Amino acid sequence: MKYMPEPYKVKMVEPLRILPKEERIEAIKRAGYNTFLLNSRDVYIDLLTDSGTNAMSDRQWAGLMMGDEAYAGSENFYHLQKTVQDIMGFKYVVPTHQGRGAENLLSQILVKPNTYIPGNMYFTTTRAHQEMNGGTFVDVIIDEAHISDKEDVLFKGNIDIKKYEDLINKVGAENIPYICVGVTVNLAGGQPVSMQNLREVHALSKKHGIRVMFDCTRYVENAYFIKVREKGYADKSIAEIVKEMFSYADGATMSGKKDGIVNMGGFLAMNEEDLYFKATSLVVVYEGMPSYGGMSGRDMEAFAIGLKEALDFNYIKHRVSQVEYLGNKLIEAGVPIVRPIGGHAVFLDARAFLPHIPQSEYPAQVLAAEIFIESGVRTMERGNISAGRNKEGKEYFPKLELVRLTIPRRVYSYAHLDYVAEAIIATYKRRDEIKGLKFTYEPPVLRFFTGRFEHI
Ligand code: F0G
Repeated sequence: MKYMPEPYKVKMVEPLRILPKEERIEAIKRAGYNTFLLNSRDVYIDLLTDSGTNAMSDRQWAGLMMGDEAYAGSENFYHLQKTVQDIMGFKYVVPTHQGRGAENLLSQILVKPNTYIPGNMYFTTTRAHQEMNGGTFVDVIIDEAHISDKEDVLFKGNIDIKKYEDLINKVGAENIPYICVGVTVNLAGGQPVSMQNLREVHALSKKHGIRVMFDCTRYVENAYFIKVREKGYADKSIAEIVKEMFSYADGATMSGKKDGIVNMGGFLAMNEEDLYFKATSLVVVYEGMPSYGGMSGRDMEAFAIGLKEALDFNYIKHRVSQVEYLGNKLIEAGVPIVRPIGGHAVFLDARAFLPHIPQSEYPAQVLAAEIFIESGVRTMERGNISAGRNKEGKEYFPKLELVRLTIPRRVYSYAHLDYVAEAIIATYKRRDEIKGLKFTYEPPVLRFFTGRFEHI
C-alpha cells in the first residue's frame, strides 16, 4: 500500500459547511486578504496550520477527566514530566502554555545584547524572542534548503557545519549562548535533520562549549524521516531514534500543539540545573507555577498521553503519507511545490506559481487568498510577509516565497485532500489572472498575523 490508511476510526464528527463563492469573495475582502483574519466558520477545509488543530484520541479525552486542577503539584504535571524524561531523556521540564512561552524563557535567560544564535533557518516566534532580547539570529542551514526544487537532498534541514564553524571563529564561542536546531525545519518545508548531522553539530558545539538546544516541535516527524531515509535506522523503533536524537541536545523547547497531538501546551526542558532554576523563577512571572506553566491539569494529561501516542509507527507513517499523497497529486499536475515533500505540510512555490508577481507584491499572500476564493480551503503565506523586516526596516525578501498547506493530525481524510488538490490545480490553471497586493495596515512585529492588504 503506497499510502498508509487511517490507523484509527471515527467516533465523533464535526460538521463542515462550505460558503458559496460570492460569499467567499466577500469574506476574504473583509479579512483584508489575510487568511489569518478569516472567521473559522467561513472556512471549509482548514490547512492554515497543524498547530493545536489536532484530533485527540479517546484516551486523551478520557485523560481530560483525570485533570488534577490543584494550583501546585498537580498529578498531571508529574505524568507529563515523567513522559518527557522517559522519551527525551532530559532531567528537568518546565511547562509553558505553548512553544513561544518556552522560547521566551530560554531567550530571556540566555540571549544578551551582542550575542549570536545560529539556527537552521529562522522561525517567526523563535527569532522574535531572540531579537527582543538583543541577540542576532544567524542562518546556518545548508544552502540547498533555500532552493525549493532540490529534491535529491533528503535532509534539507541539516546545519552547514562550515557555516557554523565560521560563525564561531568570527564572533567567538563566548558570544554564542546556544545553537537552536529545529527538528524538523518548518519554514524550509518541514525538512528533517539527519542523525549524522545532529552528531556533528553536537561534537562541534561541545568542542567550543556551546549548548545545543532543539526546537523539537515536530521531532517525531524528524525521527520518521531518519528511519525511512538514513542508512542504519530502518530497523530501529521511532522511540529508539528519538532517544538517540535527544542524546545530542542539552535542552529543548517544544510546542505541544504539534507532535504532542493536543490543542494547547508546551515546555522547556534541559539537563542543566542552573538553567532550570532560572527558568522556574521566570515561569512564575509569565506562565504560572512550575507545576502547570499556563496549562490546566487536564491539558497536561492529554499532552502526556499524546506524546506517547505520537511514537507509534503507524500513526506517524499515516501522517506523513497524507502529506505525500497531497504533494504527489500536485506534482503530477505540474504545480510547483517544495521538494522533497516534508513532514507536516505541502508548500507551494508561489514565485514559480505566479512568476508575473514580484516578491514586493506578496505572491504567496495573494495565492493563499485566491485558493480560499476558489475552494473555501484556508492556507497560509510563508514568504516575504512572514519574514518581516530587519533592524534597518528593510524587507528580507527570502528565497522561499511559499504557501503552506498544513495537514492537521488525524483530522481530514484522503477525500478531503483530493478536494484540496483539485482546488489548487484549478487556481493554477487561472494563475495569469491573479494580481499582487499591498499593505493597508502593517503591524511592527509578526506582521503576518494581523496585517491587512488590498489589490494593487
Ligand atoms: N517552533 C516551531 C518550529 C513552530 O512551528 C512553532 C509554531 C513554534 C516554535 C511556536 O510554537 O505556536 O506553540 O507558540 N508554529 C505554528 C505554525 C504557529 O503554524 O507553524 P507555539
